[in-house]
Amino acid sequence: MKNRSLVSINDYSTDNISEILRRTELFEKKPVQKILDGKVVATLFFEPSTRTRLSFESAVNKLGGKVIGFTDSSSSSVSKGESLKDTIKTVANYCDLIVMRHPLEGSAKYASELSKVPIINAGDGANQHPTQTLLDMYSIIKTQGTLQNLNIFLVGDLKYGRTVHSLLMAMSRYNPVFNFISHEKLRIPDEYKMYLNNIGIKYYEHSEFEKIQYADILYMTRVQKERFSDPMEYEKTKDTYILKNDMLNDTKDNLRILHPLPRVTEVDNDVDENRKAYYFDQALNGVFTRQAIISSILDIKPENDTN
Ligand code: CP
Repeated sequence: MKNRSLVSINDYSTDNISEILRRTELFEKKPVQKILDGKVVATLFFEPSTRTRLSFESAVNKLGGKVIGFTDSSSSSVSKGESLKDTIKTVANYCDLIVMRHPLEGSAKYASELSKVPIINAGDGANQHPTQTLLDMYSIIKTQGTLQNLNIFLVGDLKYGRTVHSLLMAMSRYNPVFNFISHEKLRIPDEYKMYLNNIGIKYYEHSEFEKIQYADILYMTRVQKERFSDPMEYEKTKDTYILKNDMLNDTKDNLRILHPLPRVTEVDNDVDENRKAYYFDQALNGVFTRQAIISSILDIKPENDTN
């Protein structure tokens, strides 16, 4: 793990990913263990978050570490005009690890080049959200028993959805078939299709909400309102695909519905009671996965690790 920061899911080899998933299982078995005594983790959130920030903070608290940081940059000296560079160089003096979410693509990489402590990218614009991907992968292996040869449907905002971009890059190592369902304005960017073409991974694009009876994983996403420069474009695209419970009648027994959350309208509340809905368990898996990522980056073994 180069310089120990986690900026892109491509920073992790397949072995690194397997190690995170192994550790995640250990933390799920024993989430409270005081292995971060004396360690300080800074959470710098320049964009709103519920799950990512709170699951990171929960993860650190359960491991006996301390959290500092801000949830709104207007309460920091950024509001006085301080640069990202100066913020990172300063905060790195106060902590062992920085978890950062920022609206600019590339900001996490930039921070990792300046910081003397590791940076974890908690989402940089529409680019990447690698810790979400690792918890998604844990959710997939836990529910499917494997990461290999799965039929994965990605639905919604495939253009701006950073969780989709990271997940596609990671899962493409395990011989999936991808099915992309999106409005024509929110198609998966060409760079990802070129990547899949180059490595020989099959994908199909659909404009209808169709063929989900073949899915192992149905990964729903919200249309990312905050990334649109034209509000009318958002209004035109936001309600194109809405998953309803009766659409799941003929789906596979092993199908699980994942969603990074937050949800707006794209998954009806009636789906929540379906046993194939997995998104709230997925959010819980985020705590264990982030414990695994932090302990791995800080090179601290879980207490129940016998390896
Ligand atoms: N999945 C996710 O990133 O959620 P938050 O925006 O609430 O952190």
